[in-house]
Amino acid sequence: MMGLLLRIVVFVLFLPFLAASRNPALNDDVLGLIVFKADLRDPGSKLVSWNEDDDDPCHWLGVKCDPKTNRVTELSLDGFFLSGKIGRGLLQLQSLRTLSLSKNNFSGTLSSDLLRLESLRNLDLSENKLSGPIPDDFFGQCRSIRSISLAKNAFFGAIPPNVGSCSTLAALNLSSNRLSGSLPCGLWSLNALRSLDLSDNNLVGEIPVGISKMYNLRSISLHGNRLSGHLPDDIGDCLLLKSLDLAGNSLSGSLPESMRNLSICTYLSLSSNSFSGEVPTWIGEMKSLATLDLSRNGFSGQLPGSLGDLQLLEVLNLSRNGFTGSFPEPLRSCKSLVDVDLSQNSLTGNLPLWVFELGLQQVLVSKNKLSGSIEIPPTSASTLQVLDLSSNAFSGSIPEGVGKLKSLEVLDLSGNRLNGSIPSQIGGAASLKELRLGKNSLKGAIPTQIGNCSSLTSLDLSQNNLTGPIPPTLANLTNLQIINFSRNRLTGTIPKQLSDISHLLSFNISHNLLSGDIPSGSFFNTIPPSSLSDNPGLCGSIVNRSCPAVLPKPIVLNPENSSPNPSSGSTLSPTGLHHKKILLSVSALVAIGAAAIIALGVITITILNVRARAAASQSAAALALSDDYLSQSPTTDANSGRLVMFAGGDPEFSAGAHALLNKDCELGRGGFGAVYKTMLRDGRPVAIKKLTVSSLVKSQEDFEREVKKLGKVQHPNLVALEGYYWTPSLQLLVYEFVSGGSLYKHLHESSASNALSWQERFDIILGTAKSLAHLHRLDIIHYNLKSANILLDGSGEPKIGDYGLAKLLPMLDHYVLSSKIQSALGYMAPEFACRTVKITEKCDVYAFGVLTLEIMAGKRPVEYMEDDVAVLCDMVRAALEEGRVVGCVDGRLCGKFPVEEAIAVMKLGLICTSQVPSNRPDMGEVVNILELIRCPQDSQEEELG
Ligand SMILES: *[C@@H]1O[C@H](CO)[C@@H](O)[C@H](O)[C@H]1NC(C)=O
Ligand SMILES: *[C@@H]1O[C@H](CO)[C@@H](O)[C@H](O)[C@H]1NC(C)=O
Ligand SMILES: *[C@@H]1O[C@H](CO)[C@@H](O)[C@H](O)[C@H]1NC(C)=O
Ligand SMILES: *[C@@H]1O[C@H](CO)[C@@H](O)[C@H](O)[C@H]1NC(C)=O
Ligand SMILES: *[C@@H]1O[C@H](CO)[C@@H](O)[C@H](O)[C@H]1NC(C)=O
Repeated sequence: MMGLLLRIVVFVLFLPFLAASRNPALNDDVLGLIVFKADLRDPGSKLVSWNEDDDDPCHWLGVKCDPKTNRVTELSLDGFFLSGKIGRGLLQLQSLRTLSLSKNNFSGTLSSDLLRLESLRNLDLSENKLSGPIPDDFFGQCRSIRSISLAKNAFFGAIPPNVGSCSTLAALNLSSNRLSGSLPCGLWSLNALRSLDLSDNNLVGEIPVGISKMYNLRSISLHGNRLSGHLPDDIGDCLLLKSLDLAGNSLSGSLPESMRNLSICTYLSLSSNSFSGEVPTWIGEMKSLATLDLSRNGFSGQLPGSLGDLQLLEVLNLSRNGFTGSFPEPLRSCKSLVDVDLSQNSLTGNLPLWVFELGLQQVLVSKNKLSGSIEIPPTSASTLQVLDLSSNAFSGSIPEGVGKLKSLEVLDLSGNRLNGSIPSQIGGAASLKELRLGKNSLKGAIPTQIGNCSSLTSLDLSQNNLTGPIPPTLANLTNLQIINFSRNRLTGTIPKQLSDISHLLSFNISHNLLSGDIPSGSFFNTIPPSSLSDNPGLCGSIVNRSCPAVLPKPIVLNPENSSPNPSSGSTLSPTGLHHKKILLSVSALVAIGAAAIIALGVITITILNVRARAAASQSAAALALSDDYLSQSPTTDANSGRLVMFAGGDPEFSAGAHALLNKDCELGRGGFGAVYKTMLRDGRPVAIKKLTVSSLVKSQEDFEREVKKLGKVQHPNLVALEGYYWTPSLQLLVYEFVSGGSLYKHLHESSASNALSWQERFDIILGTAKSLAHLHRLDIIHYNLKSANILLDGSGEPKIGDYGLAKLLPMLDHYVLSSKIQSALGYMAPEFACRTVKITEKCDVYAFGVLTLEIMAGKRPVEYMEDDVAVLCDMVRAALEEGRVVGCVDGRLCGKFPVEEAIAVMKLGLICTSQVPSNRPDMGEVVNILELIRCPQDSQEEELG
């Protein structure tokens, strides 16, 4: 860098000497370019070929020479990422004809000397960061310059009045600067000018008189200024004008009649001004018009029939004026028409059929007063891409012909008086991206065929009278971003497949009659409550209404294909698969078989529950009686019940017992009953579980023996049972209160940012294993291990609840067990389905294996899909066999986990879910294996030692 500068200093100092010693002309060019380069920053190293030791600059990048004289004639450095000042070195380039420095970062002001270069014809400094005023004598220097562009810089101030002295100028482009003041009168002396672009500045005042002298003018753009007054009356004398763009000013008055002579003009835009009056009949004489844009003015009256003479017209924009009359019939003869925008006028009458037959791509007529039915003829051209008929008074039903419009991307019929139902043929509009049918009186169901509009990104059916369910086929529309079904009368549940739509930004179903659970998943975890409001049957934490315990979705078994007996593996033989398109694995069959048994169990339980409910009404009375008792001190009166706290102390609730069963205090529900939060007198919170199926519970003696046994179980990873309450019709269990929510919530209902870390997950798995090992040592089988029964305390430590409760039931058999843990489908060991196999603590090991995989993958053990069941352990097992088990790890960990440990933990999970109970390890072994996985070095050291 220093070397270069030094050499330049040497060059400049000893210029006469050097010039004498070499070819003087060549040295001027080399010197000029090197001095120019020295002023620049060249971060892209575009000018490395510019070497001052080189005699011949003609092969330097961006440099062109005259082959005869070898003098530099052209310097084109467009888009070279250069910055710095445009230095005086260039003034050495005496033969330069073209200087193009567009699209760089040149800064500083404009030197008035540049135009002094005798040979310069074309100067392009556009799209840089030049600023300051254009010097007064800039145009005064121009010799035979042909084109000047200073566009897209930051020049300000007035256009110098002597601009008219560049009599050879053919193109002047000063657009996109901050030039102000009025148009100089001298402008119209530039009678060689063909193209004038002064758009996007701050120019004010009227267009000066004298434009008729500009007989060479082809194109004039003054858009985006603040020009006012009328159009010059003689503008039509610029007979060669092809493009006239005056949009975005404050021009007023009517169109001067001389314009009828602009018969070769192809582009006319007067948009966004204050022109008024009617469109004159002579407009038809501007026969070359391809674009006619009169939008956003004050034009009025009916459109002239002569519009039909514009045979080359492609784009017609007359929107936002005050045009009246019917949809302009003359357009029918404009054979080249592509886009028509007549929105926001006062047109009346019908939409003519030929609109669909012309081969148009866009038809926009929103906000008019058009009426009648919409008819799409069978002869429609399939070119239409945008049809916007919104905010008119169209009536009747949506034509079935929409399905024929194969190119249609936007259909907006909102804000009309359409009735009838949405035709199923809509599914044929496969290119549709936006469908807006809101604010009509549409009835009936949303057609499932809408799932075939695979390009759909936005679907608005709001404010209609639609009924029936939300079709699950919507889930196939993976590009959907916006769904608005608000203010209809839709019923049924929200299909949970919708949580698969990954781009969803907005889902408004407010003011409907929807019910059931809100799906969980990325979008639905953060959905604003207002999008769900006023659906009396919806439940879930977002709407602050707890859901009733959910029964597993019934699975319809096809007796020809599978039987509830898991040993019927023969259905997996290829011949057995003819009717079934999805191959179910053995354990899926087991799951299904188990579900069938559950279904039986559910019936049994329902019958038993009828009895229980009768008993429960008595229990409510008993509770009311015992209320006084609970809030006072304990007695041993068997009729009013006994509250026993194992730790002794003051066993009083702070509120009466009725508060215990208050909905507001409900924490959740499980297979054995609802759980409520309450306070003891000393202010300590406890969780109270009210056992639901009272009549199933054993005698008081048996109950107390089992409960006391459970009360003695002490482990840091178990939710402590602190006491109980007994009457013949009401039993309560008093548990330690754990504040951090269930593992299920953390795994399946939390956002990615709150996802459990690897460390936390491992700790939960290990803590759970330790607690189960402890229970098994005391001969207690948990029977009901699942993520919903694992609570996390404030420090993230897992505490397992609901253990051993099955022992409280009088008959510990398969029916009861599987029905009590029905909501834990997926955790249930296969032996539950098989009446001849004894249930041992190995069923907990199985559930632990499933839980391990659930924690690792962040997926539910069984996911129901449209007509398929995905069983997590099968997925992981298959992935392990294919060597891609790492891909099963929860994506929310973002790869932040030790791969070796993760694979080992997943393998352990799979071993625990072995079909044969004796193949599963003991929980004690599991704890040892987990500790080895965590500290492999320690174990090696132990082995070595
Ligand atoms: C201009 O400079 C800015 C940084 O100052 C840079 O981001 C940009 O790419 C440059 N543009 C050109 C055309 O070199
Ligand atoms: C003026 O220059 C701008 C910026 O380079 C360009 O976009 C525009 O097309 C030019 N105008 C004319 C009439 O060539
Ligand atoms: C149109 O051009 C013709 C011939 O150049 C001229 O006589 C006539 O006056 C022009 N019409 C208008 C309305 O300026
Ligand atoms: C919806 O239907 C009900 C009864 O059929 C009717 O009273 C109501 O006006 C309809 N609403 C709309 C927006 O069409
Ligand atoms: C989604 O599309 C696939 C094929 O494109 C089809 O097999 C499946 O039935 C569709 N699902 C829904 C819910 O429509």
